Amino acid sequence: MVLVAPSMLSADFSKLGEELKKITVAGADWAHLDVMDGMFVPNITIGPSVIKALRPHSDIVFDTHLMIEDPVRYVKEFADAGSDYITVHVEAKGDISAAVDKIKELGKKAGISINPDTPVSAVEPFLDRIDLILVMTVQPGFGGQLFRENGPEKISALRKMADTTGREILISVDGGINRDTGKRCIDAGADVLAAGSYLFKQQDMAEEISLWKRM
Ligand code: DX5
Ligand code: ZN
Repeated sequence: MVLVAPSMLSADFSKLGEELKKITVAGADWAHLDVMDGMFVPNITIGPSVIKALRPHSDIVFDTHLMIEDPVRYVKEFADAGSDYITVHVEAKGDISAAVDKIKELGKKAGISINPDTPVSAVEPFLDRIDLILVMTVQPGFGGQLFRENGPEKISALRKMADTTGREILISVDGGINRDTGKRCIDAGADVLAAGSYLFKQQDMAEEISLWKRM
């Protein structure tokens, strides 16, 4: 079964609590929360205080995507704020292995994300510990970009790598996901679709999500 994770980056930031309730009622499985520091990516979004403020508005799984340098500095804040999954980038500065270990020590699910130009082999050193691989199909930083065509082949390679571990590792894909690109990623072996602009522009998000869950 496909898990659908609407990216709150495309929500109306002036009413994030209501928007979170909207995706919950629409049948979303996870809320994808994009954290950007203006250093790892050229954009700044939300921090742990916003995630903490959102937490009481829904019981939905919080899938926090940290697009920040040296993420080990902030892992505890994001865990305490109510994140369920915390994903860090393999390309980020700092000790990424220590960040993953800290996420696990805090009792949270840990993810590693790779950018479109990063080879799948970059996740190998983490496969014994991670719960999620987040495959970026756009250069991180902004919503509404075009899907990068090398996504599905990376996903199928990662699916094989993940399956050989015998551990449950979910594969999520993020960037330019719509009905068509989402279906291609699912067929390649993805478990989770993180999608912002396409889902939020739907008149009937619930209908779209139920369609995605059956693809
Ligand atoms: C991009 C973010 C994505 C973004 C996706 O850096 O990580 O989660 O919200 O937006 P769309 O679905 O519009 O590409
Ligand atoms: Zn994201």
